[in-house]
Amino acid sequence: MLKIGIVGFGFMGRMHFRHWKLVPDTRIVAICDANPNILADTKKAVGNIQGAEGEIDLTGVGLFSSLDEMIAKAKPDAISLTLPTYLHAECSEKALSQGVHVLCEKPMALTVTDCDRMIQAARQSGKTLQIGHCVRFWPEYAKAKELVDSGQYGRVMAAMFQRLGAPPGWSVDNWFIDEQRSGGVALDLHIHDTDYVQYLFGMPRAVCSHGVRNAAGQLVHMVSTYDYGDERLVIAEGGWGMTGTFGFEMSFNLMLEKATITYDLTRKPMFRVCPSAGAEFTPEVPAGDGYLREIQHFAKVVRGLPVEDVLTLEQSRNSVRVVEAERKSISRKEKIMIR
Ligand SMILES: NC(=O)c1ccc[n+]([C@@H]2O[C@H](COP(=O)([O-])OP(=O)(O)OC[C@H]3O[C@@H](n4cnc5c(N)ncnc54)[C@H](O)[C@@H]3O)[C@@H](O)[C@H]2O)c1
Repeated sequence: MLKIGIVGFGFMGRMHFRHWKLVPDTRIVAICDANPNILADTKKAVGNIQGAEGEIDLTGVGLFSSLDEMIAKAKPDAISLTLPTYLHAECSEKALSQGVHVLCEKPMALTVTDCDRMIQAARQSGKTLQIGHCVRFWPEYAKAKELVDSGQYGRVMAAMFQRLGAPPGWSVDNWFIDEQRSGGVALDLHIHDTDYVQYLFGMPRAVCSHGVRNAAGQLVHMVSTYDYGDERLVIAEGGWGMTGTFGFEMSFNLMLEKATITYDLTRKPMFRVCPSAGAEFTPEVPAGDGYLREIQHFAKVVRGLPVEDVLTLEQSRNSVRVVEAERKSISRKEKIMIR
């Protein structure tokens, strides 16, 4: 039985809580959150994607406000670290150094230097550190990667990704809107697609990005082109400047030589393969959602069981590195070389 702690019980903490409940031979023993009103707050709606909402039964779960105290008293084998991004590096290091495996939400950290510290802490501890890049595990994104890698539809000629929403307004002190604590729209939201682009195609040679700032000077919308030194066109657009009842949307279109693979969270059917010859179809996808599948993957790694080669710490670090280049490209208004 794996004993699990959840550290940070906001939107993602509750999402992880619900998904850990579905993993056999695991038990949530403790929750840590600094918010003294956390129990009342769990009854409020939170987040921009389904899965975290509804009543939460905390019977038999220890409640703590300090990570050190939680580790000392509840002795979890592993934690979901679902704290605001500016705390990822410090708290991952702390837990790893005390012998606790860590599933840390994305982005890995605010800077590449902090990511390197985390990688070193994981190596020194011998414990597992995994970053919650759930899009790599999202069933349709995982299937699309499989179809591209199979080569059955030829090479990718163009790949377009989009992720749009309203500003994240659910956190208690609105830390998301503070770029010093969240990294802003580029590191918090758009990194999902930056990371998936890296998963599909490897590290780009260079990036060229453009962005729009709001009246407060914060980046709210951006578009990046990833240069692979060949003809292929790879573009990702991300923004949290949408207003009113816009909601949340994520989508991609992969134009291959012999098929278009297309996904849109708001469309029915969401996922389609449209071959140049023959009828379109919706491929079968793995069961569960990206959150469940990343947690199942992590639990297997912790238990020493074989897993598919989905992500490494270096890749999670490199996604932060590419986002740093994208932000630099926007401020300098020029293409930034990466390798
Ligand atoms: N994978 C995804 O799809 C996805 C979606 C949203 C957010 N995220 C990431 O998840 C992380 C958390 O985001 P969120 O939306 O859950 O934020 P949130 O603000 O809803 O939750 C953070 C929680 O941490 C608590 N907290 C803050 N400081 C603390 C401390 N020092 N000790 C203990 N608790 C503390 C807060 O009280 C809050 O309950 C971020 O890194 C974010 O980028 C990932």
